[in-house]
Amino acid sequence: KQAKMIIEKEYKLAEVDPRIYSSFIEHLGRAVYGGIYEPGHPSADEHGFRQDVASMIGEIGVPMIRYPGGNFVSGYNWEDGVGPVADRPRRLELAWRTTEPNEVGTNEFIRWAKGIRSDVMMAVNLGTKGVDAARNLLEYCNHPSGSYYSDLRRSHGFEQPHGIKTWCLGNEMDGPWQIGQKTATEYGRLASETAKAMRLVDPSIELVACGSSFRSMPTYAEWEATVLDYTYEQVDYLSLHTYYGNTEKDTANYLAKSLDMDLFIKEIVAVCDYIKAKKRSKKTMNLSFDEWNVWFHTLESDKQIDPWQVAPAQLEDQYTFEDALMVGSMLITLLNNADRVKIACLAQLVNVIAPIMTVSEGPAWRQSIFYPYMHASLYGRGTVLHPIVSSPLYDSKDYTDVPLLDSSVVYNEENEELVIFAVNKSLEDTLLLECDVRGFEGYRVIQHTVLENVDVKAVNTVERQDTVTPHDQGDAKTDAGRLTVSLSKLSWNVIRLQ
Ligand code: AHR
Repeated sequence: KQAKMIIEKEYKLAEVDPRIYSSFIEHLGRAVYGGIYEPGHPSADEHGFRQDVASMIGEIGVPMIRYPGGNFVSGYNWEDGVGPVADRPRRLELAWRTTEPNEVGTNEFIRWAKGIRSDVMMAVNLGTKGVDAARNLLEYCNHPSGSYYSDLRRSHGFEQPHGIKTWCLGNEMDGPWQIGQKTATEYGRLASETAKAMRLVDPSIELVACGSSFRSMPTYAEWEATVLDYTYEQVDYLSLHTYYGNTEKDTANYLAKSLDMDLFIKEIVAVCDYIKAKKRSKKTMNLSFDEWNVWFHTLESDKQIDPWQVAPAQLEDQYTFEDALMVGSMLITLLNNADRVKIACLAQLVNVIAPIMTVSEGPAWRQSIFYPYMHASLYGRGTVLHPIVSSPLYDSKDYTDVPLLDSSVVYNEENEELVIFAVNKSLEDTLLLECDVRGFEGYRVIQHTVLENVDVKAVNTVERQDTVTPHDQGDAKTDAGRLTVSLSKLSWNVIRLQ
């Protein structure tokens, strides 16, 4: 099978906002307790945070981390998580039916994130709380001093304001599972008033309004239109969330689901632009895809977890090789929509549907999905180009005309580097790709990394950490402005030219 591509420097789609490589840590399962934070662990720092986990996150380069939820935030009282730890209450956490010890809260998390050079994307509770709690938290975090909440922060040992720039106005407020679920009108009004108050506290912040929880929600699109009708001039981004899975055990159909993600983005862009037209606004609404990943392995088994435990193992999906391909395709989809998607968060980062796993008192290790995420974050910086691509197509159970070649091309002018990310979705055939790169005179292949495996269900485990691991033996080469490469069946490829 053969595919072709013409790559031209001047055909630019958009600058990549590095925040599309953001992630997410929720007070859920072992993400915080037993994940990033484990006092007594041999690698823990003086604050109890594991340095082995921190350095693994550093390998990826995660520009921003969403916190503290997720569903958790809709029942969270942020004041429970500040001040002397001994005085903090243990609470019933209703989203995941656990007990929240509040040992880690706003200050500890922000200090940790700063230490690993990640910004925090802070979510406020618009489920059980409202305008007041949101503006108080913002004052606590960002106001320098001389007011009740800023001085409270200083009395807690944090003299300097945290300077949190990006704020989520609640989480998945359309979902019946959400504590304090709202109709689009209720949420739109609340989000708009909360945004107004927050901007009065700190006009420099950026705000994200909640879109639908999934593309299949019954109120989909109508929800976005109504919410934006109330909030369009008050917010900077609209959120999207999606998780895919292969419950039907059909790899071809599973990998085709990145088309659904692409359609999702394009439909939401259309709704945003409809409201822009309706309001005759000059402003263009951008998107924050602040939850995306594969999540299905533990959906059934997690129903057996006993309630009210502290940090039980929840959502600990063990990712297969094909899941890594799917994550690769989702990253390609985000890149190819970089003109409107400015923030995206892989949900989540440690232990909970995560690229990084930990063993209590033991090592941290990398799941299969760690690799495409790391590659995209490390090399997918610069300008997304708009190549002309021709690829063989296939049909699956739910999709027709699925390109076997899924690809994105990023040109980093500063480093004089051209990077091609490519997934070959064929279950049977190598795809011979030929690219016209004559516009990049003198460029040679400096790296062709491949993630491939004979077994689509292969997984990494703590005992066998390198079952699904990339190698640099790809055969990409250039000759007289022509790049040729064989993309092996079911593979993720990173081809770098300089
Ligand atoms: O990431 C896990 C959960 O998925 C989040 O808490 C929620 O926002 C979404 O439904």
